Amino acid sequence: MSDRIENQESGPLSRRNFIQNTSILTGGALLGALSIERGAHGAGSDELKIALIGCGGRGSGAAGQALSTKGPIKLIAMADAYKDRLEGSLANLKNQAKDRVDVPEENKFIGFDAYKKAIALADVVILATPPGFRPIHFEEAVRQGKHIFMEKPVAVDAVGVRRVIAAAAEAKKKDLKIGVGLQRHHQAGYIETIKRLQDGAIGDIVSMRAYWNDGGVWVKPRQPGQTEMDYQMRNWYYFNWLCGDHINEQHIHNLDVINWVKNGYPVKAHGMGGRQVRTGIEYGEIFDHHAVEFEYADGSRLYSQCRHIRGCWSSVSEHVVGTKGSADVGGNRITGPTPFRFKADQPKDPYQQEHDDLFEAIRNNLPYNEAERGAKSTMTSIMGRMATYSGQVIEWDAAMASKIDLAPKSYAWDALPQSLPDDKGAYKIAIPGSTVTV
Ligand SMILES: NC(=O)c1ccc[n+]([C@@H]2O[C@H](COP(=O)([O-])OP(=O)(O)OC[C@H]3O[C@@H](n4cnc5c(N)ncnc54)[C@H](O)[C@@H]3O)[C@@H](O)[C@H]2O)c1
Repeated sequence: MSDRIENQESGPLSRRNFIQNTSILTGGALLGALSIERGAHGAGSDELKIALIGCGGRGSGAAGQALSTKGPIKLIAMADAYKDRLEGSLANLKNQAKDRVDVPEENKFIGFDAYKKAIALADVVILATPPGFRPIHFEEAVRQGKHIFMEKPVAVDAVGVRRVIAAAAEAKKKDLKIGVGLQRHHQAGYIETIKRLQDGAIGDIVSMRAYWNDGGVWVKPRQPGQTEMDYQMRNWYYFNWLCGDHINEQHIHNLDVINWVKNGYPVKAHGMGGRQVRTGIEYGEIFDHHAVEFEYADGSRLYSQCRHIRGCWSSVSEHVVGTKGSADVGGNRITGPTPFRFKADQPKDPYQQEHDDLFEAIRNNLPYNEAERGAKSTMTSIMGRMATYSGQVIEWDAAMASKIDLAPKSYAWDALPQSLPDDKGAYKIAIPGSTVTV
C-alpha cells in the first residue's frame, strides 16, 4: 500500500511495516500445544480459533502476533468495513503464516454489521477498528462470551468509556480474558523501571511530563460521488466520533504510563490547543496540538504535550521527578540514590509479548482483564481533549459523567455523522471559550 507511514502508530499497513509487525511469525517456533484447561475457551479442541475485526495495519499486525503465540491456533474469520482492506490483510497474513490462516469466503464479512458474524465463529477476537466502534464491538464480544484483544484507545467519549467499563465487569463475571493494546505494560524496560519508581526509588513523585510530538498521519482525498460516511470512515483519524483526536489516539500511551507510575488517574485538567498548521479542510475537525496540565489526587502535576506538525521537534516520551531523584521512564533510566538503567541483550517486542501474555492466560485459565485500566486511561486522554476544546478546568467525575455521545444515529454508508462539512467543505472546529465538552 502506498499510505504514508510516519511512525509505528499511524496509517494502514505498508508491506515493510507488516513484515516488521509479523516478523516473529517466521522466526518464532510454535512449540506445540500447552495443556489447556477445558472450558477456558470452549471444549473439544486445543486449537484456538481467531477472528480479526478491523483488518488494517494494527489489526493485521496483532493477528500475526496472536498467530505467533505458543500452541495450536488458526485465523478463521475476518471482518472489515471494506473488502479491499480485508483482502489486503488476508493476503499478507497468508504470506506470513499460511498454515495458520484459513479464512474461507463464507467467513469473510464486510460492512458495519460484519463484526457480529465474525465474532460468533471464534474463541478469541481481535478488535482493531478505529476506536469509535470499540465499545460496540467489545460489548458484543463479551455478550457472545469470547476472549478479546482490543486495541487502544477503547472509546472516543465518556459514553463509550462507561460502556466499556460495564462490559469489562461483565467479562470478569464470565471469566473472559481481555488484553488492551497498551503494550508498554508488557515491555520489560517499562515494567522494571516503574516497579522501582513505585517502590520509592526517587521518593514521592511530584512532577511528570509526557509527550507525543510527531508529524501526523495520512489523508485520503475525497472521491467523486463518495458519501460523507464513506469519506469520514476512510479518513477516520480526523473525526472525533471515530478517533477522538490524536490526544486520544496516540498520546494515550504516554498518559497511560504516567497513570501507571502514579497508580491512579488525574482528578482534573486544564489546557490549550488548536490548529496552527494543519488547517485545511482535509484535516477534518481535530486539533494539531494540545498542551494539558493534569492534576492527580496528591496535588502532583502532569505536563502533557502532543503535536501533529511536520518539521518540528519530535519526542514520544515520559519523564518524572521525585523528591529524591528523577527518571526517564521511556528511556528506562533512573537517576537518584539508587540509579538504574534497564539493559536487555535481546529485548522482546512488546507487541508480541502482550499477545504471549494474553494467550498464556487463555490457555491456562489465569485471571486477565486489562479493560478497566484501558478504559480509564482512555478517559484520561478524552478529559485532556475536553479541556483543550473548551478552555475550561475539567474535573474527572464530571468528565466521566458526560452525556455527550459523538456517535452517528445509525451506521450505514448513506447515514450522516453528526459532524458535517459546510458549503466550502469545512468542518466545525472546537473554539475554546465557547465549545462545551462535558
Ligand atoms: N498499540 C499500538 O501501538 C497501536 C499502533 C497502531 C494502531 N493502534 C490502534 O489500532 C486501531 C486501528 O489502527 P490502524 O492503524 O490499524 O488503522 P487502519 O485504518 O489501518 O485500520 C482500521 C481498519 O478498521 C476497518 N474498520 C473501520 N470501521 C470498521 C467497522 N465498523 N467494522 C469493521 N472494520 C472497520 C477499516 O476499514 C480498516 O481496515 C486504532 O485504535 C489505533 O489506535 C495501536
